[in-house]
Amino acid sequence: MLNHILKSRPDRAGTTIERVWTYELTSVIAFGGRRRRVYRRIVALSGARPGDRVLDIGCNGGYLARLLAAAVTPGGQVAGIDPSPPAIAYATRRAPASAAFAVGTAQDLSEPDGSFDVVTSTLAVHHIPEPDRAAAFSEMFRVTRPGGTLLIADFRPSRWHRGPHGLRHAQAIDLVPLAEAAGFRVEAHGDLPMLRYIRAVR
Ligand SMILES: C[S@@+](CC[C@H](N)C(=O)[O-])C[C@H]1O[C@@H](n2cnc3c(N)ncnc32)[C@H](O)[C@@H]1O
Repeated sequence: MLNHILKSRPDRAGTTIERVWTYELTSVIAFGGRRRRVYRRIVALSGARPGDRVLDIGCNGGYLARLLAAAVTPGGQVAGIDPSPPAIAYATRRAPASAAFAVGTAQDLSEPDGSFDVVTSTLAVHHIPEPDRAAAFSEMFRVTRPGGTLLIADFRPSRWHRGPHGLRHAQAIDLVPLAEAAGFRVEAHGDLPMLRYIRAVR
């Protein structure tokens, strides 16, 4: 099912997901009923709290961004970016007042320096072309305020996935050196169902 919802983009944005409903369904099934619990844990690990400005990179239909929006209310704001226009349209239709979505890529963020207290990204790093991942982490560093937090989660190694994109799921990306090379201090890492996460501080 997975390879039918992916689109390789000629502009090196990455492998985008444009069939948002199908992705949502796939994700619910893949997490085996634990998706909400896992993503709530990600919100807690990110430390997002009322009043915070949060950027969610590779937000797709905005599932995590909506949970983050609840965590930063009142007074906070969540921005979600993704290179997939249908995903951004889907997220925008469902956006609470404290969230806004825009088309964009991790390696070329349009947000100003130091403009976020928290930057998150779940299951998106393996979608970014490998040669562009260092630039993506540099951009995350640039837009995080000094003392702000980065929370990244991606697949743990698994033999479960098949097909060309599945191979990227099977080979877990080492997130720690990417974050450290960009200038972050990694203060925690660990495993969640299906995922491996790091939390780092600028
Ligand atoms: C597997 S989905 C993850 C969606 C969501 N964060 C989640 O946890 O369910 C990966 C997302 O990364 C996006 N993506 C692909 N290339 C990207 C890039 N260069 N920068 C940011 N996001 C990218 C895809 O369009 C897709 O929506």
